[in-house]
Amino acid sequence: MYENILAENQNGVLVITINRPAKLNALNQATLKELKEVITGVYTDTAVKGVIITGAGEKAFVAGADIAEFSGLNAETGRGLAQNGHDIFFLIERCPKPVIAAVNGFALGGGCELAMACHLRVASPNAKFGQPEVNLGLIPGYGGTQRLIQLIGKGRAMELLLTSDMINAEQAHNFGLINHIAEQADLVGKAKEILEKIFTKAPLAIGATIASVYAYFDNATNGFDTEVNEFGKLVETADFVEGTTAFVEKRKAEFTGK
Ligand code: COA
Repeated sequence: MYENILAENQNGVLVITINRPAKLNALNQATLKELKEVITGVYTDTAVKGVIITGAGEKAFVAGADIAEFSGLNAETGRGLAQNGHDIFFLIERCPKPVIAAVNGFALGGGCELAMACHLRVASPNAKFGQPEVNLGLIPGYGGTQRLIQLIGKGRAMELLLTSDMINAEQAHNFGLINHIAEQADLVGKAKEILEKIFTKAPLAIGATIASVYAYFDNATNGFDTEVNEFGKLVETADFVEGTTAFVEKRKAEFTGK
């Protein structure tokens, strides 16, 4: 049982709701710890096929890291705080099962960073995205300076980071920061619709796709080598045999994730 998040398995989709609406779902350390625990579980829980991360209420997805916990930091604890966030967000980004952010309002600072660590993003029309850390004498500490560039390019990222400007859902969609806009009432439904489509594919191929795409951004790895290796592994899977046989037999493939 968690205190700061809700986690409910809805037909194979684990819906994680950051649940501190009175603080606009700001990520304090206790919430991050619970998020880490629940995402770690997703890696091995065969009952979970995909994940949706959203925020409680209709105002905020996540309004940032919890600013109340920033006082009294020194260089060492500051680095530790950022590293801890990085570790958790990498766990989300490298999850072999698809993770979609359903952004239902403010996604600022750590909230924008959390959304960007997910594989895909859908947002409601009232969503607002921004990295306002320079207002606090800070920079993003949970990967924002890197993932914003990856998603929207250097020029746009630099402007948002330097000015703290917030962008709305429509601008975020134009920038490629989010994949889709859906009304708040349909937001989780839209994320589920995308997941349901992904669930019809071979699960190991989905995991291999995620690993190969993220290899592109890993300086220590050659993404082309990763693709070659993942391809090699997949041709030995039962789902590869099933997928290719089903194609030849002109029927729908029945994947088992093996
Ligand atoms: N950390 C801690 N508490 C936060 C928070 C954060 N990042 N964002 C909002 N809250 C709290 C507020 O302190 C307030 O708590 P209180 O009622 O106990 O005083 C509550 O959430 C509601 O926020 P409030 O500011 O009153 O709402 P608003 O509608 O006037 O403004 C925002 C909404 C999102 C514009 C504003 O809350 C904000 O700027 N938040 C901080 C955003 C930020 O800088 N994030 C990056 C952090 S690294």
